[in-house]
Amino acid sequence: IKLYVPRDSAALALGADDTATALAAEAARRGINIELVRNGSRGLFWLEPLVEVATAQGRVAYGPVQAEDVPALLDALLAGVEHPLCHGLTDDIPYLKNQERLTFARVGITDPLSLDDYQAHEGFAGLRKALALSGNDIVQAVLDSGLRGRGGAAFPAGIKWRTVAQAQAAQKYVVCNADEGDSGTFSDRMVLEDDPYMLIEGMTIAGLAVGATEGYIYIRSEYPHAVAVMNEAMARATAAGFLGDNILGSGKAFRLQVRKAAGAYVCGEETAMLESIEGKRGVVRAKPPLPALAGLFGQPTVINNVITLATVPVILARGAAFYAGYGMGRSRGTLPFQLAGNLKFGGLVEKAFGLTLNQLLHDFGGGSASGRPLRAVQVGGPLGAYLPPAQFDTPLDYEAFAALGAVVGHGGVVAFDDSVDMAEQARYAMEFCAIESCGKCTPCRIGSTRGVEVIQRIQQRQDSPQQIELLRDLCDTMLHGSLCAMGGMTPYPVLSALNHFPEDFDGAGE
Ligand code: NAI
Ligand code: SF4
Repeated sequence: IKLYVPRDSAALALGADDTATALAAEAARRGINIELVRNGSRGLFWLEPLVEVATAQGRVAYGPVQAEDVPALLDALLAGVEHPLCHGLTDDIPYLKNQERLTFARVGITDPLSLDDYQAHEGFAGLRKALALSGNDIVQAVLDSGLRGRGGAAFPAGIKWRTVAQAQAAQKYVVCNADEGDSGTFSDRMVLEDDPYMLIEGMTIAGLAVGATEGYIYIRSEYPHAVAVMNEAMARATAAGFLGDNILGSGKAFRLQVRKAAGAYVCGEETAMLESIEGKRGVVRAKPPLPALAGLFGQPTVINNVITLATVPVILARGAAFYAGYGMGRSRGTLPFQLAGNLKFGGLVEKAFGLTLNQLLHDFGGGSASGRPLRAVQVGGPLGAYLPPAQFDTPLDYEAFAALGAVVGHGGVVAFDDSVDMAEQARYAMEFCAIESCGKCTPCRIGSTRGVEVIQRIQQRQDSPQQIELLRDLCDTMLHGSLCAMGGMTPYPVLSALNHFPEDFDGAGE
């Protein structure tokens, strides 16, 4: 019997290692031969630990399978009878079947560290194509695909690459921002742990495109599994000639290193990240100069998020038009949305831009886990706006969200039911900013602390109308006067909470 048990840290957190150990022990006890593959996660977290069994029809899913379920599961498999935890063919589970997985096509299917498995599933097809192209042609393909920065800012990746390609310098760099800090997000982590060669391939293609021979992956320190998997994958890719001084005999070079982040949210801001990689304190640099022209060690640097770089291989392999064929308006392609918070079915949903928030929350998320009505959803991390149910029909599209004063960001979706206190959420946003501020500029450093105090006075019904006016004024200063998105976006959750849920700010909820 061939069995799959994920090694992804979401699955590990839910007991996957115990399940795998129990499967091996129980099979040995019974004298059955099993092949146990530690794959990535399919991203259906309520089914983890998900055990898949290879059959002639495809893989059959069982979950969640805890260690104590293993003997009965093996009994059922050997007797050929159905087990209560069986969900049929994994690919037919609607949550998975209704997705459009381009970037995540291999995730959960392959053994993350197997180069053979990777190549058997289109791995390195993009790199092989890129090696036959000029740097300009690669940049053009990324431009034509419409790919925009998936870290949150949605800047066109091709334009960024073109800026670096055209810069003159003896040394250029590619830096992958894997300091995934947004609340409720995990798509970067899944790529790092579950399909590391895809990121290596994407970064190598970026290097070939712009003429960079050195790359860094800046991984948040809270992701120890990701760090370990990436280091191992880099070593194996180098040994096999996919990375290093002579990529696949082309004479072209690209070398990679992992840097472990230091645990500050602001180090996900690109210039603070550069400081951190250079060994300095993670303080934001003023822009200009853009990192594309003067980035790491002062040299032209491509900085992209994990998902942006991981999407490049499929664009090269299948063509720009294929990728651009998905999406709506100027939001081309797909985004791996991450469903979290008070939802029945949390997990990874990769879909083309254009589906509505309602579809994500109900068709995929299954509504609230508590069974109470959903009242608010925060999209795009702790600096993203809160949307009320009246806005749940908004299509997930960068421009449609911007028109509402909201952001799609990195695709994190955190749901709250009607027990949420939105004034408290607003206070928390200011507190988060106060804790995470790098301290370089006044609107953020001082404004966030004053923001906490003002909201506390509103919560205590001290002089509320004047305090609300003061809060709006403070948000205006932070929005327009902050040096980076940390202080500049903190008003998004605060103002959206105030505007859409005013009843929580007049003391009525006390
Ligand atoms: P930004 O709008 O200043 O820049 C976007 C990117 O485009 C940057 O890499 C910038 O260097 C580059 N760029 C701008 N003009 C360019 C040009 N002419 N040529 C070449 N490159 C150019 O946004 P910023 O401050 O870098 O990012 C803010 C975003 O980060 C927010 O939208 C937020 O959603 C997101 N964010 C994501 C987090 C995560 O964990 N993924 C955490 C916190 C924030
Ligand atoms: Fe630092 Fe905040 Fe200013 Fe950004 S907005 S530079 S985090 S003080």
